[in-house]
Amino acid sequence: MLSSKLTLSGSHSVSVPGDKSISHRSVLFSSLAQGRSEIHGFLEGEDPLNTMKCFGNLGVSFTNLGKGSYSVESPGKKGLTSPKGELDFGNAGTGIRLSAGLLCGLPQIQAIVGGDASLQKRPMARIIDPLTAMGGEIRSLSGDGRAPLKIKGKQLQDYKFKSPIASAQVKSALMLAALSSEIGLDYEEDELSRDHTENMIRFLGGSINQITPLRFQMKPPYRFEGGSFKVPGDISSASFYIVLGLCAKGEPTIIRNVGLNPSRVGIITVLRKMGGKIEIADPRKECGEDIGDLVVYPSVLRKTEISASLIPSIIDEIPILTIAGLFSEGGFSIRNAKELRAKESDRITSVIVNLQKLGVSVREFEDGYEFDEISSLTSAKIETYMDHRIAMSFAILAKLSGLSFSFDDTSWVDTSFPGFFEILKTF
Ligand code: S3P
Repeated sequence: MLSSKLTLSGSHSVSVPGDKSISHRSVLFSSLAQGRSEIHGFLEGEDPLNTMKCFGNLGVSFTNLGKGSYSVESPGKKGLTSPKGELDFGNAGTGIRLSAGLLCGLPQIQAIVGGDASLQKRPMARIIDPLTAMGGEIRSLSGDGRAPLKIKGKQLQDYKFKSPIASAQVKSALMLAALSSEIGLDYEEDELSRDHTENMIRFLGGSINQITPLRFQMKPPYRFEGGSFKVPGDISSASFYIVLGLCAKGEPTIIRNVGLNPSRVGIITVLRKMGGKIEIADPRKECGEDIGDLVVYPSVLRKTEISASLIPSIIDEIPILTIAGLFSEGGFSIRNAKELRAKESDRITSVIVNLQKLGVSVREFEDGYEFDEISSLTSAKIETYMDHRIAMSFAILAKLSGLSFSFDDTSWVDTSFPGFFEILKTF
C-alpha cells in the first residue's frame, strides 16, 4: 500500500463550508413561504448561489447579510412569477431537479431550466416521467431526456410512486411538486436516500407519515411559513479532510460543525470498517439535523467490503474513498454503484482514467471498479471532467503522496467548496 509522505505536527482544526444539499433546500423552502425567512451558514458555492439567483429571477428577494447569512423575502408560492430568460442552474443536478419539481406544480409559471455542459449530459427522464404522470407538463428541449427542460406549471394530482432508484433528487423533486401544487404523495424507495427534505418539512412544523422506513405519505394542508435555517458544515466536503487526516502521519485533525444526518454518514461507517479512527465530539441537533465535531486520527487502513445498502449514503464520497483505498492494505473495491455514471461526470470513468494515468491497474465493471494493493504511483496530468469531487480527490492524493500532479482545470471546486485549496495549503 502507499505510504503517506505527509506528517502533521500539532493538531489541525478545519471548518468546512455549509452543506450543499441543505443550502439548496433552504432557498426552495424559503421561496415557497410567504414573507420573511433567514438562512445562516449558507454555502456560497456556485451551485447553491445559482439556485438563489434563479429564485431571485422568479420574484424572491435575497439580501446578503455577510458571512453566509441571508434574509429572504418571498411573495409566497402563489406570488412567484415566470422568469425572464432561461433559468441557469450551472453545474447543479440538485438545483435543477428540485426546482423543476417545485415549478411544475405552479400553474402561473412557464420556464426553461438548464445548466452547463456537464449538467446537459445528465439524465432528466428520472424526474420528467413521474412529474408528467402527476399531470405536469415538462419536456426535454433536446429531445433526449436531457436539459434544458421546458416547464408549463399545472395543478397536479395526488400521486403514488415507487422509485426505481434511491435518489434524493427524484424524491425531493416530487415532494416539492406535491408541496407547490398542494397534493398528496405516497413515495417509496428501495434504499434510503438522504432525507433533508423530510427533515426540513418537519422542522417547519409539517408532518410526514412514515409507513415503513422506506415509504412515506404526505398530504395537504401544508404549512408555508418562513423559518430561520442554520446550515451545518457539509460532510461531503469534510470527507476530503477526513481521508487526509486518516492517511497522514502524526497528530489528529479536528473538523468542526459537520452535519451528521444518519443518511449521510456512510463515509464514517466505511472508513471505520477500514480501520480508521474517527471520533464524534459534542453531538447536537440544529434545524432538525444531527451535527458534531470530528476528531480524525492517523490510522492503518485495510480493504473492506462495502454493502449495496450503504451506496446511497456514500454516493458523493466514493472518489475520495477510492483515494483512501490507495493507502489501504489489500486495495479497494466498489460495486453496486452504477449511479456514479450519472453524476457531475461519469465517475467510474473519470476515477479509472486518472488512476491509470498514475500507473494503477484498475478493473472496470458497469457498476464499479477494483484494484489490488499498490505500492507506488507516478506523476501525471489529472483530467477533472468538469467535476469538483474528482479535482478535490486527486488534490488530496497529491498532498498525501508528495507527488506533484498537474490539473486541466480545478475551477469546478468552487461549485461546492470555495476555500478548499486555501485549507489544503495549511497542511
Ligand atoms: C443530492 C442527492 C444525491 C447527491 C447529490 C445531492 C441532494 O443525488 O449525489 O450530490 O441534495 O438531494 P441523487 O439523489 O441523484 O443520488
